[in-house]
Amino acid sequence: MAQVSLKEITKIYSKGESAAVNNISIGIENKELVVLLGPSGCGKSTTLRMIAGLEFPTSGEIYIGDRLVNDVPAKDRNIAMVFQNYALYPHMTAYENMAFALKLRHYAKSDVKKRVTEAAQILGITRLLERRPKELSGGERQRVAVGRAIVRKPLVFLFDEPLSNLDAKMRVQMRTEIHKLHLKIQATMIYVTHDQTEAMTLGDRIAVMRDGKVLQFDTPLNVYDNPVNKFVGGFIGTPPMNFMEGKIIKKDGALYFDEGSLKVRILEEMYDALSPYIEKPITFGLRAEDVYDRLFASNASSGNTVIVMCDVIETMGSENYLYLSTNKHTFVAVVEAGNKPTVGSMVEMVFDMRKAHFFDQTSENKVV
Ligand SMILES: Nc1ncnc2c1ncn2[C@@H]1O[C@H](COP(=O)(O)OP(=O)(O)O)[C@@H](O)[C@H]1O
Ligand SMILES: [Mg+2]
Repeated sequence: MAQVSLKEITKIYSKGESAAVNNISIGIENKELVVLLGPSGCGKSTTLRMIAGLEFPTSGEIYIGDRLVNDVPAKDRNIAMVFQNYALYPHMTAYENMAFALKLRHYAKSDVKKRVTEAAQILGITRLLERRPKELSGGERQRVAVGRAIVRKPLVFLFDEPLSNLDAKMRVQMRTEIHKLHLKIQATMIYVTHDQTEAMTLGDRIAVMRDGKVLQFDTPLNVYDNPVNKFVGGFIGTPPMNFMEGKIIKKDGALYFDEGSLKVRILEEMYDALSPYIEKPITFGLRAEDVYDRLFASNASSGNTVIVMCDVIETMGSENYLYLSTNKHTFVAVVEAGNKPTVGSMVEMVFDMRKAHFFDQTSENKVV
């Protein structure tokens, strides 16, 4: 198995157009599962296809193991790619689909059989091997497509949105299967998705991308707890992070975030970072699970409670989403299932200010 390293990779498809991938440098360790996460069009597939050798970078270097592979054709890179649309041969059985690449490479028949049988066992598709793709469900087809990658025992597995064509339930199931597969075969994997839940649950590390750039490359928890900017904060997490625009004010030696209609006291540990913003605009960010109902909160104080309107309640079963509004902003709180205030009434909520984020309004970078 192998590490993969991208050094200042840029891809411009045609002259005059903006870069699809813009100066990306990331290192993927041996046996690591790294997720490339970002909205449609941000350059995820282009990055993956360059690692595969299906596209060539305009500039920069790609290493697989210690080998510079910029000029190595795809078939000689010893990687395997699994696509969203499976790309199975319709006239071949699952067995033949999985065996095909090995036969092309003139593997002995007994070796082919051994590898396909083993992969089928790992994926739980042994009983499906004689079926053609049209006789398989979406999830089963995706297993065959993954099996076709496994049999080659590649240095690196590349997945491009492999679960996007599956229904929601199957997606969750296959997500766990891929997770198990990674634990079992201990291979280096690079996994592309626009789905932040997939990224959070699968990735050892996540590279969050936007407009051809990697904004943050870190563990799922660090990306969640310490987003480098407003975009990352808003992209990761369901429901997304709440944002409010306002300014920092100073009163009797204390700092407050003043939203216009509500005001909350800032913790002293953030004073240094926020002093340059006194009387200046700033964006406040707080996750929905860091907003509590006053009636249930143990950490309420005079500085961190706000009175807001409860507009809508969404019942999730295990919890409720309260859609709340100030005179200027709407925001969401995730509260216990038993907590159901009257819609249209005022409620007193508590902000956990230890979890507050502040973002510069011009650069959108995190201030603290
Ligand atoms: N073969 C291509 N020729 C020209 N432009 C392309 C090609 N493939 C992708 N692009 C452009 O490059 C950008 C990144 O695309 P892509 O890597 O497919 O994004 P993602 O996979 O994140 O959705 C997009 O603006 C897309 O239109
Ligand atoms: Mg794509």
